[in-house]
Amino acid sequence: MTAKFITLEGMDGAGKSTHIPAIIQMLAARGREVVSTREPGGTELGERLRELLLHEAMHPETETLLMFAARREHVVQVIQPALARGAYVLSDRFTDATYAYQCGAKGVLAAKIEQLEQWVHHDLQPDMTLLFDVPVEVSVARLAGACSPDKFERESAEFFTKIRNAYLERANKNPERFFIIDASKPLEEVAKSVKDIIATL
Ligand code: TYD
Repeated sequence: MTAKFITLEGMDGAGKSTHIPAIIQMLAARGREVVSTREPGGTELGERLRELLLHEAMHPETETLLMFAARREHVVQVIQPALARGAYVLSDRFTDATYAYQCGAKGVLAAKIEQLEQWVHHDLQPDMTLLFDVPVEVSVARLAGACSPDKFERESAEFFTKIRNAYLERANKNPERFFIIDASKPLEEVAKSVKDIIATL
């Protein structure tokens, strides 16, 4: 059995975080170490950068660079050591989010993101990515109930449409690792899909 890197993606309000405890439980039941982490964040410095990224206005390229600065720390301090120990690493978002948000929605050139990706984690890609996909109206309706929305969660339906399309495009380009989950279905059905997908790992 080899170490596996699993990522969760989707636009705000898709509900991916709800499924993390169940995924951890399923993986831990295999008798393996599970490292559950998130981006931006996952390290002490990364969490400080997250505060800035989620609450301060900045140029989209600055945002991209800070995402990758946090990611470098995350890869070196957390993800690579855990994989080297043979653990399962479950990350709530990774570089696909930068392609969706900073490139798809905010217009940063994909070529620039590709360069940073090469620099920061050229030999590391997720083994499996679960994309929680919902129609934009569902996401916007769910976010309307959020108590203290961050700067991304306050964005328009037009912004979320771009994110959704960018994620679906990433999934089409990388079918070997992407699993698209219809997260607009009732929670139990989504949980069942997640379970069936994790079982294939
Ligand atoms: P999110 O994962 O939705 O956490 P929570 O469920 O606690 O709100 O928040 C992270 C936000 O950061 C989300 O809006 C997407 C954004 N983000 C990017 O724009 N680019 C990235 O590369 C990453 C990792 C996240």
